Amino acid sequence: MTSRTVTVTDNTTGKRIEMPVREGTHGPPVVEIKDLYKEFGYFTYDAGFTSTASCRSDITFIDGENGILLYRGYPIEQLAEHSSFLEVSYLLLHGELPTREELDAFNQAVTEHTMINESLKEFFDGFHYDAHPMAMLTGVVASLSAFYHDAINLGDPGNRMLTCHRVLAKMPTIAAAAYKHMMGEPFVYPLNRLYHTENLLNMLFSRPTEPYEINPIHARALDQLLILHADHEQNASAATVRLTSSTGTNPFASIASGCAALWGPAHGGANEAVLNMLHEIGDVSQVPRYLEKAKDKDDPFRLMGFGHRVYKNFDPRAKVMKQSADEVLELLGVENNPTLQVAKELEKQALADPYFTDKKLFPNVDFYSGIILEAMGFPTAMFTPIFAVSRTIGWISQWKEMITDPQLKIGRPRQLYQGVTLRDYTDIETR
Ligand code: CMC
Repeated sequence: MTSRTVTVTDNTTGKRIEMPVREGTHGPPVVEIKDLYKEFGYFTYDAGFTSTASCRSDITFIDGENGILLYRGYPIEQLAEHSSFLEVSYLLLHGELPTREELDAFNQAVTEHTMINESLKEFFDGFHYDAHPMAMLTGVVASLSAFYHDAINLGDPGNRMLTCHRVLAKMPTIAAAAYKHMMGEPFVYPLNRLYHTENLLNMLFSRPTEPYEINPIHARALDQLLILHADHEQNASAATVRLTSSTGTNPFASIASGCAALWGPAHGGANEAVLNMLHEIGDVSQVPRYLEKAKDKDDPFRLMGFGHRVYKNFDPRAKVMKQSADEVLELLGVENNPTLQVAKELEKQALADPYFTDKKLFPNVDFYSGIILEAMGFPTAMFTPIFAVSRTIGWISQWKEMITDPQLKIGRPRQLYQGVTLRDYTDIETR
């Protein structure tokens, strides 16, 4: 029980109440306001949740002022350097790094579920060739709930873990199938002898006409990218998954709601938007013009890949991703590509401009991730699906945490209503 409190006084009535302050293991304490309405008859208003903790969690911690990101206590930089995406997935899901035996068993458990039902192929046939892969991914993931519905028992720990393995295993297969549909190429089945990320590359880029060799530089860069995007505490898509799941709905439907939230350009869609922006800028000589557009309040243009709600000095993922981009592009021999030149000039000029530095707008992870993905041959439309493949483990880990939380309640925000007050219906002829 906490002893720290905050006193709230209603200056109109003079009524005072003590609100308990709850301490986390890291980060600012929170004032628990659940009795505010009961005591005062007030709701709280915090558009965009800038000061509101929507849940308690043990999974991921961010210190935005100091650029710290921890998965289960481990710094993202260490995980990106030493770990693998599947090991990080185990960590997020179970809370501890696995032993060799535990990792092998996890790999086996996930790999068993990489196939999707054959009839799902027909779902893809219903989409136009130019459908955005995020639209296909969101729709097909939601449709998995039709395949796994009666079999899901949220009260059974074994069944919950099976659901986590299924989601994690099938997401790459669906993302790759969306890509193949977009390209008009035949689907490639998962190859279970390959490691998770290599399997993804193989499903995306191999063709029946010629042998495909997985480039180890691509495999490592992609695995690192998946690690960096795996979880990010209560971001818009994770919060959406939690809100959706709080109703007790099918977990595949919840993951689909996460995909939908991720797609927006203010969130996971930013990686695609960054590359579209760099292509639009086209040449380093145009950089000043676009910086002026970004600063102009009457122009809706924003510098994509800049700024973050939580990180106000630097995004630790961006630091790792920038280094990885430099290394990968050099290894692939494309360090002089024009898109990269524009990106570097944009970054240099923005970081020297007080508009961006005063507002603490620095490059975020998506500024660099798209550059790496483009160098590896991914079309821009596939950037956000790759983000979704990674973030799935964060979503499902948070789903698993939430579903067993004894304090679980249906998420049901309140509102500040400012519409018309009570009035009587009038007949159409008299309006
Ligand atoms: N370009 C130009 N101005 C900006 C930008 C930008 N990218 N981002 C914020 N600002 C300005 C904004 O106009 C506002 O100015 P003022 O105070 O004068 O009104 C100020 O900075 C604060 O912006 P905000 O929109 O109130 O900040 P927010 O915390 O609500 O939004 C954000 C954060 C990430 C949505 C926003 O910075 C943005 O739209 N960035 C571009 C999109 C992007 O890169 N998103 C990826 C985020 S990282 C991946 C992920 O985790 O999802």
